[in-house]
Amino acid sequence: MSARLIDGKALAAQVRAGLAQRVAALAARGVRPGLAVLLVGDDPASAVYVRNKIKACEETGIRSFFAHLPASTTQAELLARVRALNDDAAVHGILVQLPLPAHLDAQQVVDAIAFEKDVDGLHPTNAGLTLAGRPHFRSCTPYGVMTMLDSIGCALAGKHAVVIGRSNMVGKPMAMLLLAADATVTICHSRTRDLAAITRQADVLIAAAGKRNLVTADMVKPGAVVIDVGTNRTPDGRLTGDVDFAAVREVAGAISPVPGGVGPMTIAMLLANTVEAAERSAGLAPMPGASQPRA
Ligand code: GUN
Repeated sequence: MSARLIDGKALAAQVRAGLAQRVAALAARGVRPGLAVLLVGDDPASAVYVRNKIKACEETGIRSFFAHLPASTTQAELLARVRALNDDAAVHGILVQLPLPAHLDAQQVVDAIAFEKDVDGLHPTNAGLTLAGRPHFRSCTPYGVMTMLDSIGCALAGKHAVVIGRSNMVGKPMAMLLLAADATVTICHSRTRDLAAITRQADVLIAAAGKRNLVTADMVKPGAVVIDVGTNRTPDGRLTGDVDFAAVREVAGAISPVPGGVGPMTIAMLLANTVEAAERSAGLAPMPGASQPRA
């Protein structure tokens, strides 16, 4: 039987409609959420991602501040840009599109973003708060995946969630959010032995390795929920995920496609974090590090 399809595009539209209402409520108080996006160099894929993010801002009533800097930009110039945005009260969120050209130190740049404006959730303070189970900004892709799981009523407590991939942007924060939801979490990566033996135990399988067709039908437990975070290109240029979608959908209980799955949700959650940052600045949402009672 074919799996239930988790339609990220439709869910993202719902999330964005809810955000538009919050943006209107902020407008009534004279606040317009602002997202600054810095793109350095000429990576074509990054240019497309950034264009989509800016378009989504405009459609949601968020003001965007876009700077496209030349590939020759120095570390000092980029850091100065980030610091100026930190000091700009009209900017509630800052995103530096990654990867940066090889001569730039991305970690130092991310560290320079005020963590209260780090809507990507990549700053060490935000990573640490996520680790501590009291996230301030959730990293956008894992936040999107959690919203997708929630949308299908996937109760995570006690479930075995397997994450393939250990990046700072997706794999690690993904595992922390699943853990905070009381799942039993296994993180797999390129050095994991017998990946299939582990993925076959997964009630929830998150593929975020960046490897086309990594997850095949024999690696999936019947009825499992499979979320495909991969964004790879086929030899003929089509966008595809990490999961062999056609075969796995015959085994899984629910599955997200690529495209139209996690991608639109990542953008929606970036907007959500930006609106939340603006609400905090207006005193409408809890401030950083506020502890959340936990049973
Ligand atoms: N490059 C690819 N995805 C992302 C993202 O979510 N944030 C940033 N800053 N760069 C990216």
